[in-house]
Amino acid sequence: MTDAPPILTNVQQIPVAEEPCERLNGCDICPEFHGCMLKRRETHESWLVGEKLKKIKHRLIITSGKGGVGKSTLTAGIAVALAKAGLRVALIDADIHGPNIPQMLVAPDSEAAKHQKGLQLDDIGIVPIVPMPDEAPGLGMISMDYFIESSDDAVMWKGPLKKDLIRQLVAAVNWGERDVLLFDLPPGTGDEPMMVTEIVDRIDGAVVVSTPQRVALLDARKSISMAGHLNVPVLGMVENMTDEDLFGADQVKKSADELNVPYLGNIPLDRRIIRLADEGRSIIIEHPESKAAEAITALTERIIGDLEK
Ligand SMILES: Nc1ncnc2c1ncn2[C@@H]1O[C@H](COP(=O)(O)OP(=O)(O)OP(=O)(O)O)[C@@H](O)[C@H]1O
Ligand code: SF4
Ligand SMILES: [Mg+2]
Repeated sequence: MTDAPPILTNVQQIPVAEEPCERLNGCDICPEFHGCMLKRRETHESWLVGEKLKKIKHRLIITSGKGGVGKSTLTAGIAVALAKAGLRVALIDADIHGPNIPQMLVAPDSEAAKHQKGLQLDDIGIVPIVPMPDEAPGLGMISMDYFIESSDDAVMWKGPLKKDLIRQLVAAVNWGERDVLLFDLPPGTGDEPMMVTEIVDRIDGAVVVSTPQRVALLDARKSISMAGHLNVPVLGMVENMTDEDLFGADQVKKSADELNVPYLGNIPLDRRIIRLADEGRSIIIEHPESKAAEAITALTERIIGDLEK
């Protein structure tokens, strides 16, 4: 008579491993997904964020207290200017409720527009979108916009889900080696900046954007205070949509001086920025000689100089 096989409980059949899994892909695209032990999956993506970040030199956030002051415009502009200068850039559109970066950088007739509703995967993860392969080949981007059914859908996710998604935007993408990681954030001092700082662990600098209006300046102060609470060094304040006839000169500079933070310069109001953003094109590429493009390029050089110090 042969011995009967031992009767195992479910717990014995599926032992929980404590060590992190060392696969560089996200769990969602893993061939072992169904057989994998839950506990490993839970810790894998946090570990993976760390692995992805090891290959990225600088991490930067662009913030503002007030909405509509030009954060996304400047984040996109800085990303293009960095890539045009030959750097490798990862741009994460972490504005879950209003992801605008694809609209601003992906022209509807471009190759990148074909991925709008179908991201490509390789065996490491999601392949970042390269919006301007000829002019800015080093710029890779990912946005929440690619994960929602329709761009018109309102996203009403609560805290833990949001954090999980932001983590995925870092962990599940095959970023490879990058010089700079840039986050575009929603306005204000709410969940997202805090979540990004927690997930990424170390942010090397925050750029605070304000228009010259009093309300925007008051809210910009809150962003500076938030950066202090999160231990993120403030690289400085930048004035966007400068129009001296309307607001007078140096409004943001005065606030920066009062708050004792560096003033990084100003970007003039230029109507071409609005039209180009609607067409998914960048003033840095289309009108490099314009004052606005020159100012964004100078801002970018200043930022990279500060990060390299
Ligand atoms: N320097 C500029 N000159 C002219 N228009 C600009 C300039 N900067 C931004 N804009 C325009 O202002 C509007 C708001 O800009 P943007 O979406 O970048 O702001 P935001 O701070 O990211 O907004 P939100 O808080 O909603 O994310 C857009 O239509 C953009 O094209
Ligand atoms: S599902 Fe996730 S944790 Fe499990 S083996 Fe695959 S990558 Fe690793
Ligand atoms: Mg924005």
